[in-house]
Amino acid sequence: MSGYFYSHRMQLVDSFGRVARKLRLSVTDRCNFKCDFCMPLKPTWIPSSEILTFDEISRVVKILASMGVSKIRLTGGEPLVRREIEKCVKILKKVPGVETISMTTNGYFLDEKAAALKESGLDSVTISLHSLKPERYEQIVGRKDAFSKVLSGIKRAQAVGLSPVKLNCVVIRGCNDDEILDFVELGRETGLVVRFIEYMPFDGKNMWNPDRLVTGAEIISKIEEKYRIERLPREHGSTSLTYRIKDGSGTLINIITTMSQPFCRDCDRIRLSADGKIVPCLFSRDDYDVKKLLRNNASDEEIADFIRSAFMKKFAGVETLLKNGEVEPLIRPMHTIGG
Ligand code: 5AD
Ligand code: SF4
Repeated sequence: MSGYFYSHRMQLVDSFGRVARKLRLSVTDRCNFKCDFCMPLKPTWIPSSEILTFDEISRVVKILASMGVSKIRLTGGEPLVRREIEKCVKILKKVPGVETISMTTNGYFLDEKAAALKESGLDSVTISLHSLKPERYEQIVGRKDAFSKVLSGIKRAQAVGLSPVKLNCVVIRGCNDDEILDFVELGRETGLVVRFIEYMPFDGKNMWNPDRLVTGAEIISKIEEKYRIERLPREHGSTSLTYRIKDGSGTLINIITTMSQPFCRDCDRIRLSADGKIVPCLFSRDDYDVKKLLRNNASDEEIADFIRSAFMKKFAGVETLLKNGEVEPLIRPMHTIGG
């Protein structure tokens, strides 16, 4: 009966007519890495009493799913540092209306966790890998034992059948932009989908500046120096461009052009921070505290209404900021919202 009820709540629609289908769910703001372009030198962590419990998360997810949100991506900080995260996956996978659960992780704990995650119902995984040069990679992430562990994690994810396994590579001028073709080569050899991400101004160390941004157009020209590629039609709601290498290998490359060519107009995402705030857009300065309601005995209907009115205020997106020349570094550090 509850399934019947849930599947008939009104969809989440914003003032531009965009409908929420995907949830980015940050399960912790903590991370065992200190990536240059993400972590502040001295991060202030959310106190653990403020972090949503699995029961609270599952309640919000049930309500969101009843309004048509069907795809969940777990993020952090680093989602695998949250204790018993596989339990959370299992709980969420059973929520009526939830179709897929994926995760964005730094990969460090994936070798040990991939099998349990798959068993709990995780469908796919995206692993951040910003360099194929061990020393450079470990410099970027601020951890000396990371490279080989992450490589093992990637292999394990493929071996246990998580699919697709994708790699996130944030491209930064003067740091790793000489490795674009190496990443494409890796994609051809392994079947991993490589995603090149434009550097966004969310870095805790205030390193971002327009000169360090390597645009999607530049990334594409670099790839075209060596490969013939074709652009595939964009899926509705997708924020990335997809290219196929025309060599018969079927290799796919994603390019996330958030800064140079955003697709805010058909964005279908809603975000929930680890401390229970609805963040309608990655670039919005406002958030809406749903935890307060959860902890004050609000009814499902009250929570649904609150989320609906928060989503109605979803900001037009980075497109508007760019038009107004308002992109300033550090709107909120990435580890607090998870990309
Ligand atoms: N710009 C672009 N991507 C970033 N990420 C972290 N910080 C930034 C930034 N400033 C990436 C992470 C992860 C994804 C969620 O976002 O490395 O792959
Ligand atoms: Fe951690 Fe991801 Fe931020 Fe790196 S980018 S410090 S792995 S949260």
